[in-house]
Amino acid sequence: MSDKPDHPVIGWEKETAVPNNHQFNRYLHVQNGHLHMEGLDLAQFFLDEAPQGFEKTMPSPLEIVYLPLIRQQIQKMNQVFSDVIAELDYTGEFHYTYASKANAAEEVIRTTLGAGANHEMSSTVDVDIARIMIERGLLTPDRMIVCNGFKGPKSLYAANLLQLRLLHENLIPVIEDLEEISLFLSSGQPFDVGLRQKSYGHNETLAEIDKANSRFGLNTDDMWKAAAYVAAAPNLTLKMYHYMVGSQLTNIPDFISSLKPGIELFARLRQRYPSLSIFNFGGGMPVAMTLDFDFDYHEFVRQLLTALQEACQRYNVPVPDVMGEFGRYTTSEHGAHLFKIITVKENGSKLPWYIIDGSIMSSFPDSWALSEHFIVLPLNHLDKPFQQVQLGGITCDSDDVYPPKPSHSPLYLPVEADELYIGFFSIGAYQEMLGGVKGSKHCVLPEAYELIIDQEGDGRFQFQILHGQTPDDVLRNLGYAV
Ligand SMILES: Cc1ncc(COP(=O)(O)O)c(C=O)c1O
Repeated sequence: MSDKPDHPVIGWEKETAVPNNHQFNRYLHVQNGHLHMEGLDLAQFFLDEAPQGFEKTMPSPLEIVYLPLIRQQIQKMNQVFSDVIAELDYTGEFHYTYASKANAAEEVIRTTLGAGANHEMSSTVDVDIARIMIERGLLTPDRMIVCNGFKGPKSLYAANLLQLRLLHENLIPVIEDLEEISLFLSSGQPFDVGLRQKSYGHNETLAEIDKANSRFGLNTDDMWKAAAYVAAAPNLTLKMYHYMVGSQLTNIPDFISSLKPGIELFARLRQRYPSLSIFNFGGGMPVAMTLDFDFDYHEFVRQLLTALQEACQRYNVPVPDVMGEFGRYTTSEHGAHLFKIITVKENGSKLPWYIIDGSIMSSFPDSWALSEHFIVLPLNHLDKPFQQVQLGGITCDSDDVYPPKPSHSPLYLPVEADELYIGFFSIGAYQEMLGGVKGSKHCVLPEAYELIIDQEGDGRFQFQILHGQTPDDVLRNLGYAV
């Protein structure tokens, strides 16, 4: 019998204190009753103890942006590919690409580029971000910019891409629809081009995929037409085949079997169009959002490259370079959101309500919209007894609760709730972008302060504080003259 829990593990699941030095995952461990993120005591930001030289006490709630974890994720994946490429004598290269839709904050893009990632985008403002990063010398000429998203010939996005191409040669528009080709063709500018196959979901044949209800990409017939059209154009070069099958795909056999029809079609296209040199499997790479996560990245990459080798051998074509567009994988773990428990209320409920000084649903929209689970742990009092509880946000919304509805995951927090702080972890991908930055939020709650943390070469932490919204900011935003 498997000892794998039958629910996502979101925190400590016992009534006893957490043992000193307990390691929850790669980056969270306990020391002297406090939770540490790598070497950093998180409770110090609120309590007057400052064990690591952070001299201010910060207001709660507080968003933590911990940049070293982004670099580690990129290095880890590059290492996995490099190991498997050597193991299999795979003759193509791997191109790590950051899918910026997961989190487009300046410090995130600066960090992914600094770690050597290529850049993926999906809309017209993304083009402005890329331009800023090129001007700052961070998005260097060697990096590919992969342009997904709808870019019809009359769109601002497409027009902006033509301008960006003047600054950056290594720009690859990925065609979603046949009508998108004409603008790039008539521009006369040389473009490497990608073609996106309609492919979302678990489908094991191209016939099934062609019938899938998806608005993305080209069906198989249109894929052949687009390839012929691009290959015949004097200024366009067919370079990339894009085939994405989903998000947070934790089952390796399913992930690989879903990719196989695309791998097969890639090899057939490659026979006819030798310039086609990159197989891009898009997003989908899973990451730990709970404590029970288990995924063998090495095994996934081994099966992916093996499948590419086998198909390419059958069609007698060279293996391609491989690209992944890593959104959630790159940025999930670097983000945490810290709150104070402001009151405990029994209210005749089976479990006591621990009320936080912020909103769960507007800070992590996926928890109420998709019943997504995230890790929740106390920052202090970990050396004291725990009890099972439920969390409530400070809004007046009955959906502002955690664990999400419906969930079988128990949530335990310390019984001692005086000056108790907690953190939501692995919330760095999509949550902030979906919840909005600096807008007006549910129940007019002002946005939290943000603490951006990085590490210098000698291991010392660097801190940058971004101010949260004041009540006046919120009022002005809603049209009140204050
Ligand atoms: C085209 C494309 N690439 C990459 C991604 C990133 O996916 P993930 O966050 O699963 O890595 C997405 C997400 O929607 C996408 O639409």
